[in-house]
Amino acid sequence: MQFPDRFSNLPDYAFPRLRALLDAHAPGGPVRHMTIGEPKHAFPPWITDIIARHADEFGRYPPNDGTPELRQAIADWLERRYGVTVDSDSQVIALNGTREGLYNAAMALCPEEKAGGTPAVLMPNPFYQVYMIAALSVAAEPVFVPATDATGHLPDFAALPASVLDRTVLCYVCSPANPQGAVADEGYWADLLALAERHDFRILADECYSEIWRDTPPPGALQVAARTGADPERIVAFHSLSKRSNLPGLRSGFAAGGPQSIARMKQLRNYSGAPLPLPLQRVAEAVWADEVHVEENRALYRRKFEIADRVLGNVPGYRPPQAGFFLWLPVDDGEVAALKLWRETGVRVLPGAYLTRETDTANPGAGYIRVALVGPEDETEQALIAIRDCLYD
Ligand SMILES: Cc1ncc(COP(=O)(O)O)c(C=O)c1O
Repeated sequence: MQFPDRFSNLPDYAFPRLRALLDAHAPGGPVRHMTIGEPKHAFPPWITDIIARHADEFGRYPPNDGTPELRQAIADWLERRYGVTVDSDSQVIALNGTREGLYNAAMALCPEEKAGGTPAVLMPNPFYQVYMIAALSVAAEPVFVPATDATGHLPDFAALPASVLDRTVLCYVCSPANPQGAVADEGYWADLLALAERHDFRILADECYSEIWRDTPPPGALQVAARTGADPERIVAFHSLSKRSNLPGLRSGFAAGGPQSIARMKQLRNYSGAPLPLPLQRVAEAVWADEVHVEENRALYRRKFEIADRVLGNVPGYRPPQAGFFLWLPVDDGEVAALKLWRETGVRVLPGAYLTRETDTANPGAGYIRVALVGPEDETEQALIAIRDCLYD
């Protein structure tokens, strides 16, 4: 029996790799998990009442695109957050979390060929791993574009050769960026939109960390597209309740963009999608409409960012993140540092190389560790002090 070749050379996923690196060794202190970006703050307590009130709807197949009420709540949120008006019928699709949508967008939107060659799908490096799998699944060429200190931790897509840009069909961008916490400003989005127009490709804007910011709300791709009069088909933006509302287990997000792109995504999902159960769509509708819990959540992260600045501010190369909830800390070798930290202190962090792809030039993650600030404040502070004393003293 045969298996597909296109997935044969994948490295193990980040977390099994981490277990293989660390688990043969005993922790050197109280175990502190700072590896997975799984929010640990409380979600809004009132959601359980909504589930109970709508429990009978578990007896129905849910609508594929999202209920009209959920899509309207999403459109209203986009209006409040970005001042952008979208048509909730034709420009919004509900998703089971952004990961599913980021994957299926490539299925729905990637043509078989461009400029007489294999289509190229651009993505940052380091990157959220689903971008690469999505590209490989549609037999496109994933193009890894370094997002390093030198590029402000966002990829410089315009530096790619014209021969690649001309074959480009999709471009994944993550802002605020996981893992670096860098934010694409209006100029970045405007330049990227202009590049997409020149080379005729679509931008898939992964904005699932957009609500966890320190000082200024990150501008959104749809907002800049509207302001610059860009073709709405150039952008599909992805948002999630996982980080904004501490509901990673709800599996709820959405995509919004040009009507043709969204129609293609809906069409594919009609055949192959697994829509969010109806009672959970009711929850999502209420959660998008509430900002109180989001502000409380943001304040908790802000306090942890301040602790990180205070504890790690003198570490050479420390870069306070603008948004998101990760620190991307420079070290000599990420695997060596993660192992040392585990064996000497019990703190678990992720080697940066597990989030990157080695290219001809270098591995932009090899000299980093990623630290998730998702735990309680006091534990986070103790763990950050342990990191400083173990790795930087
Ligand atoms: C950059 C990025 N995009 C997308 C996701 C997927 O989030 P969800 O599917 O929970 O919305 C994550 C989750 O960690 C992420 O870090």
